[in-house]
Formats: sequence, structure tokens, C-alpha cells
Amino acid sequence: TRRVFSGIQPSGGLTLGNYLGAIKRFVQMQEEDYETIYCMVDLHAITAKLLDPAELRHNTRELAAGFIASGISPDKSILINQSQVPEHAQLGWIFNCVARMGWMSRMTQWKDKAGKNAENASLGLFAYPALMAADILLYHATHVPVGEDQKQHLELTRDIAAKFNHDYGVDFFPLTEPVIKGAATRVMSLRDGSKKMSKSDPSDASRINMTDDADAIAKKIRKAKTDPDALPSEIEGLENRPEARNLVNIYAALNDQTVEEVLREVGGDQFGVFKPKLADLAVSKLAPISGEMARLMADPAEIDRILAKGAEQAREISAPILKRTYEIIGMVGA
Ligand code: TYM
Repeated sequence: TRRVFSGIQPSGGLTLGNYLGAIKRFVQMQEEDYETIYCMVDLHAITAKLLDPAELRHNTRELAAGFIASGISPDKSILINQSQVPEHAQLGWIFNCVARMGWMSRMTQWKDKAGKNAENASLGLFAYPALMAADILLYHATHVPVGEDQKQHLELTRDIAAKFNHDYGVDFFPLTEPVIKGAATRVMSLRDGSKKMSKSDPSDASRINMTDDADAIAKKIRKAKTDPDALPSEIEGLENRPEARNLVNIYAALNDQTVEEVLREVGGDQFGVFKPKLADLAVSKLAPISGEMARLMADPAEIDRILAKGAEQAREISAPILKRTYEIIGMVGA
């Protein structure tokens, strides 16, 4: 089988970066010839800091609503919350014993997030990529759609699988393929074209949230940082213009076009002309999703039922794989 797994942290609201870099691809792969499993990674969401319990519950349900509103169907995909499938944490522990300290300390996301104050970072933040490898390998997933920033973690996932297979002389865990595709694998901040759009950026104007209304979206795009030149009609003209490039990438990804196609249409436009076009496009694509999210959030019990059903389906796959892992390792009772 060709099996897809991917996850998103319920550590805050969804951004346009999550939507274009990840969720849009999740929906596409669901419609292709894959078995698809999508996950709210709540165990990961507490690694940076412990969240208020009500906030974590809210974020998790809202993320589930965001998945469903974007087109992920609980009838076609398995939709789960990580902590509801205990095998994630169990295999995560095993991988803590497979991964090496040196590998983990080279992770750029660890270095960025822990910064100069690693003494004060949680042990969970350091081990984060081993749990991520467990998420994926627990299902023997073959394909993992993600944004560019997760590439290094997926290479580590392959290293963990290879070391486990080698050390036990088995051919058990697959080497997973990252799927990093499209015009928006790295959506940048609207305020600074050298920074990734992120839910943790202190400036709300730097990102579009999936729950922003039409006015907020239009205003953020109008205020987005740009340069004074008109848009080029060829892709080479975007070199060294990170802010212009970012807005064109966003337009292309929202409209399912290539950057070349977009530039053929908007080349020559000043930003005063292009930005309203982009705002209209963004509102037309995002407003139906945020409307549907609000509708779904009015019935949290229904979301919880979907996640309970997903956990049951997921465990049918994960429990035998964990059992076999324990047998390989030599754990009595497995
Ligand atoms: P997270 O929650 O930071 O982001 C979720 C997904 O959104 C993508 N993304 C972006 N893509 C393009 N531009 C951006 N500005 C942008 N910001 C975020 C991310 O690349 C990701 O695909 N470690 C993961 C969660 C995870 C996971 C997994 C992913 C846990 N286990 C197993 C895949 C497989 C993370 O922190 O994603």
C-alpha cells in the first residue's frame, strides 16, 4: 500500500502557511491512490511550553474543524488526535533509544526554538523529532506531505528507520518519502520576506489566520511589505525580491496555478493593483473554510466522535506494528 501520514500541532490557530504548505496537499492526496492518516499532534504541542488545558482542548478541536472544513473527509481519511492513540508515545520512547544525541542537537528547529537557552528547554522539545518519526513509522507510512521546514526532520526519520533495521538485522521500517511540492512550500511572513509565516510570530499582521474575516485578510495584504517596482512577467524578475515572490507564490498556490502562469497574467501590475486581486482571491478561497470551521465548532461533541472513531481505525494499524516492534526488540509479553 501507499500510505500517507502527516500532522499539525494544535499549538495555536492555523495559518495560511499551514494551509498552503500542508493541508491543501493533504486533501489532494486523499483524492489520489493513497490511504491517508492525518493527525493533530497534541503531544508535540506541549513541547515548547505547557498550554492552558482549555486552550489545548480548544486548539485541538479547532484544528480538526480546520482539516474537515478544508476538505478532509472522515470517511476517506483517518483523522486522529495523537494522544488518543497511545502507540505514538510508546514507539516514541523506543526511538528515543535509537536516535543519537548528536543527531538531535543538529536539528535546526531545535537550535532555533531552544536558542541560547537550551538549559531551560524541555526534554520533550529535544526529543520532538523522535516522536515525529514514531508518528510516521507507526503506520509504515511511505509518503509524508509537509512544508519545506520539516525536511530535516524527515531525513532524521529515515536515519532512525535505517538504524533500527540495521541494528536488529530486519527490514521492518520503510524509508519514508517527503512530499514537498507546489508554489507555497515555504510561505513567508507578510512583514519580512526573510522570515517564515508562523503562528508563533508576535505580530499578527505577519500572518493570515484561517479564522481571519474578509476585512482582516484584505487589510493584512494591503499592508504587506513590498518593494516599489511593478511585478515582472518572467520568473527571473522575482530574484532578490523576497516579498514580491512570496505574494506571487501565495497567489499561485491559492489559485492552483504555476508562478509562470500567474506572472503571465499580472506581469506589469503595480502592487496597488495586484494586492486587491490577491485579497479578493484569498477571501474567496478562505472565507468558505472559516465559515465551515465556525459551523463545526458549534458542535464539539460531533468532532470528538469523529476523533474517537479515527483513533479506533488508527489502532487497527498501529497496534500490530508496535507489537511486532516489541517482539523484534525482545520485550516479554509482546
Ligand atoms: P507545524 O504544526 O509547525 O506545521 C504543520 C505543517 O504546516 C507546514 N508549514 C508551512 N508550510 C509552508 N509555509 C509555512 N510558513 C509553513 N508553516 C508551517 C509545516 O511544514 C507542516 O507540514 N513537526 C510538525 C508536526 C508533525 C508531523 C509529524 C508532520 C508531528 N509529527 C509527522 C509530519 C509527519 C510541525 O511542527 O508542524
